[in-house]
Formats: sequence, structure tokens, C-alpha cells
Amino acid sequence: MSVTKEKLLHEVVAGLRKKYNGKDLTEFLVRLGAQFGDIYQRFFRLYGEREDFSSQFNQLILALAEMYLSRDEALKELDRQREEDKNWIMSQNWVQTMLYVDRFSKNLKGFMKKIDYLEDIGINYIHLMPLLKMPQEANDGGYAVSDYRAVDKKFGSMADIRNIAKIFRQKGMLLELDLVLNHTSNEHEWAKKALQGDKACQDMYYMYDDRSIPDAFEQTLPEIFPENAPGNFTYLSEINKWVFTVFNTYQWDLNYTNPKVFTEMMKILLNLANQGVDVLRLDAVAFMWKKLGTQSQNLEEAHLLLQLLKACTKVAAPGVVFKAEAIVQPLEIVKYLGGGVVDECEIAYNASYMVYLWDAMATQNKRILENGLENIPRLPKGTTWINYIRCHDDIGLGYADQDIWGAGYNPFEHKQFIISYYVGEYEGSPSKGQRFMYNPKTRDARITGATATLLGLETALENNNQQAIDAAIRKILLMHSGIMSFGGIPLVYYGDEIACTNDYSYLSDPSKADDNRWLNRPVIDWKKAALRETEGTLEHRVFTNLKRMIQIRKSLPEFYNENNYQLVKNSNPHVFTFLRQREWHKTLVVMNVSGQQQSIDAQVLEQSGLGHFIYDVFTERDVLLTNNQVTLEPYQFLWLKQK
Ligand code: GLC
Repeated sequence: MSVTKEKLLHEVVAGLRKKYNGKDLTEFLVRLGAQFGDIYQRFFRLYGEREDFSSQFNQLILALAEMYLSRDEALKELDRQREEDKNWIMSQNWVQTMLYVDRFSKNLKGFMKKIDYLEDIGINYIHLMPLLKMPQEANDGGYAVSDYRAVDKKFGSMADIRNIAKIFRQKGMLLELDLVLNHTSNEHEWAKKALQGDKACQDMYYMYDDRSIPDAFEQTLPEIFPENAPGNFTYLSEINKWVFTVFNTYQWDLNYTNPKVFTEMMKILLNLANQGVDVLRLDAVAFMWKKLGTQSQNLEEAHLLLQLLKACTKVAAPGVVFKAEAIVQPLEIVKYLGGGVVDECEIAYNASYMVYLWDAMATQNKRILENGLENIPRLPKGTTWINYIRCHDDIGLGYADQDIWGAGYNPFEHKQFIISYYVGEYEGSPSKGQRFMYNPKTRDARITGATATLLGLETALENNNQQAIDAAIRKILLMHSGIMSFGGIPLVYYGDEIACTNDYSYLSDPSKADDNRWLNRPVIDWKKAALRETEGTLEHRVFTNLKRMIQIRKSLPEFYNENNYQLVKNSNPHVFTFLRQREWHKTLVVMNVSGQQQSIDAQVLEQSGLGHFIYDVFTERDVLLTNNQVTLEPYQFLWLKQK
């Protein structure tokens, strides 16, 4: 049955009036009016063929109204402010961290006592890693959710989350939580009922009676965890069916071709929003739609789903921002930011810049960094990057072959070099990272390990080599200077502020031992953290310098989160330079990625319109030219401004 948009709108409004008679829906209806076309169009593209299309559509809108009505007045007020100031996330004031509550502070109550530690360094945007109810054994670090409406007991309760959100609002801080949209755990209510034969719950997932469709899919699907979860389907002996599991066997992929899945997940999203969460990190979004004969990643329908989630959120909780977790090729990542034409997510991980920075630290030159950046499209207005060095996952060397050819290397050999450098096999490398998901056929691998360890600190400490310790600290600071200044929100991964090295404790936990991403998910040793206050310790050096970087970043209008950096070419292959400018404010960022002293020609200053009387705003020291050259110490960075 086809129904026109206008007729549906009338039906929807009548339905709302009937169900919510006497409730004030004025603001909701204004927003619904503005978004109706987008919501309708996308829902129709996804589900328009279905007999029950209009009833499904009506249910969605009723759900939005219900969630709007149950939203706190304080959050509604914030919604209005953010609707007024659409660019609020673009401020250079935001500095993020992400952390595992249990490994940082045992639980949420403990976390509340540690907020001042984060505030001290200047962090005001916090991603608490998955803490919703999860299986007690293997749970992929919480990325397998058993109940989206309950916090896992080991962390605390939803009331704690509301409390933290409230404290954050008073302090002007932001709270981010994950929303794992692509899959639930096999202990989720729907999964459990599906196993008992409940047809409606089986329809929430992709289930097959035999291998014919799974086999057809496998022809084109890649494997995400080939070592410990090969293939993309898991056999369920209880019901003699195969279920789609792109990640681990206990992570069942949700079937978004069923509109009920969409509406349920929409309600779950808004329920989290209504706890006071500011940013939702939408996990593994690239995988949300499956299609035979494709890789089932980055499909157009996955974008439609996200656009639909966004348009609905703009009606019921417009102050909430989406961060897309799409660690894919640059051209694909940018599409998750709506391409400037439609609204989708506002924030995405700048995975390419991250990998290029690691590349530069291994090669000690900027060739790929500079060349690769030129191939990344600029972001649509009002959207921004998370610029980061490390996160809880592996480092995938996802750069395009063309970036590597363009820099004059052979892609295969170059990636092999980077891997062997970071796992410490390459002669002279001080790194002690590890391979992740090694594929013996292609020799491809991703890399795991803590920032400090990858940069040589662990080896330097083992050898008690002061010079090497010093070099590692300089590298840690240099890389952070690159994310603080680039344009986007910098993310300081928890533990990096006190230079935590690899944490090997996961090896004694059988539910974690097969996943070496845990190397970089440290259990914080607060005695070590306390050393940040003792001058002369490495913790003090890293913490105070990062704190200073953050302070300065916040004070410089040109470090606004817009993706408007200008690459400034200089002829020294070891020195990376780019300019940040906003109105008359200007900073030239200069990074020496090599272990040797380097210099660049003062021409670079002229090109950037800085003149010859300059100072480094980070050290507050004048920078004197020698022979018309700016000289940099090994791994030094400068934030140059005109005097
Ligand atoms: C994301 C998470 C990762 C997890 C995966 C599956 O990529 O960052 O840790 O394994 O999703 O949920």
C-alpha cells in the first residue's frame, strides 16, 4: 500500500494528539515539521516496500514523542542552546580522553573522585568505554551488550551515569558513551528468546537454516578477526541455524532490514541521550547493512540508517552529537560526516592522520604524512575530526597504496617495514609493539601496544638508558603536539598523560589472553600517576608538558576545530610544517620527526606571512634565525607566532 507523505503526516499528527492528549508537544512538532521530509524519505527508501510501512512509521514517530516527553528539562534547555549555537563542538576548548572505568578507577563511584585529575590536565570531554551490561567472560571489552538500559553491576548503575552527566554539565564537560549498533551480545534478551524459538526475536538478527546464503556471503566478505573468530557466521545448535557474526561468535549482527530493529535501537539511543549523554560513539557503523555480493561495508543503506538516526535525534534530543566509529579509507570516512549535503554524524576519527604520524615516527621523514594528507578531503562545515595517536584498538595500516606509491615507496615492502619497526624486529628499533591479526598468507598485520612502548620508552627503561628515555619522551610530546594543533578535537588516550607502557596483565585472564589489544588498556597505577607531581620524573615531564599544550591550545583561536590547516612545503624531508589561521591569528606548526638536529629555511616564515621576528608560543622563547634558518633539536616541535 502506498501512502503519500502528506497523508502520513496527518495520520502521524492525529496519532500523536490522541496518544499524548494534554501534553505540550509544541516544540516537538516544530522540530518534527522541520525533519519530517528527511525522516520520511529515508524510512521509505529503507522500508517503503513493506505492507506495514505506515504502521511502522507511525510507531517510530510515537516513540520519538515518548522519548522527547521523558527528557529532563535541563537537557531540553541544553538542546535549545545547542540548536542556537550549531558550531559549539568546533571550539578549540574541547580536549578529549577515553578510558575504561574499571581499569581507571574501579567503578563509577571511584570515577567521580578522579574527575579532578582529568580537569587538572585540562581534559573536558570524556569517553567512558563500554559499561552497559555485558557477558561476564568474553565480551570484547564491552562491545557485546546484553542490556542497553542497564549499567553492568561491576561499574555501578544508570543513576551513577546520570549523576556524572549532571556533574559534567555543571563543570562544562562532555560525556560520551558507546552505542553498539551493529550487534548485540548472545546474552541479550532478543538473542536468548531467539534461541528458544521466538520467531519475532529471530527476525531481529540475520538467521539462516543452512549454509547456502552464508556461503554466498563469504565469497565477498572480509574477516575482521581472522585469528580468533574466522568467518562471518556462527552455528546455533539449539535451533539449527546460522547467525551473522561479523566480529566474535558471541556478537550477533542486528538485522536492520527489519524496521523494528531500527525503532528499538532508536529508542535505546534516545534513552541513553536522556541520561544526559552529550556524545554517542556509534560503534562499527560501516557494517550496519549487509548485501550479497559486496563486502557489506560502507553501503549506501548504512548511511541512510545513520541519517535517519540523526534526523530523529534532531526531533527528540537535538543537543546530542554523533561520533562515527568508521575506521575506513579517508574517502569513505568523510561520507559519515554527511558530505556537507545531509546531516549524519558530526565527528569522526582521523584514522589516516594517526597512521601517517606513526609512519613519520618510524621512517623519520614526512613523505607519506605530507603526501597522504593531500589526498584526504576536507570536512564539511560544522563537522570535525577526533585527532588521536592511540585508542583502545589496534593500529591498522589502512593507508591507500596510492599514498605510499606517491611518496616513492613500494606499498607491500613499506607496510612490512612499518610492522617490523613497531614490533621491534627491525634493526635498531626501540619499539616493543605486537602484531595483531597476523595473516600468514599476506604477511599483513595490524599493530598493538602503548604509545610510550611503541615510541621506545619501555626498552629505554629496561636498559636504564637515560638518553633513550629522553628521546622517547620527546617523541611522545611531539606526536601530541601534532594532534593538539591540527584542527579537530585532540584525544589524549588515558595513561598516555603519564607515559604508561604496555600492560601485560591481560595474559593471566583467559577471557582476554587471546586479544593483545589489552596491552594498551592499562590498569592505572595511581602511585605512578602521583609521580606527575614530582619534578624530574618522566611522569611529571609528560603530564606537565601535555597540560601546558592543552592550556595553550585552548587560548589560541586559530586552533579552532575546523579542518582548515594549510600545508606549508619546506625542502627538509624530516620537518613537517603546517599553518593554522583564523582571522588575523596565526600559528605555524613545525615538527621535526627525526632524531637529528634539523633546520628549515626562513622562507617558510615568509610564505606563512610571519616575518623574521618570531617566538615559540609553547616555550615562550624567541626563536632566532641562524644563517636564515630555523633550527630544531631532535624530535622538537615549535608553535611559531609573530612577535
Ligand atoms: C569497534 C571497537 C572494537 C570492537 C568492535 C566490535 O571497532 O572499537 O573495540 O572490537 O567495534 O564491536
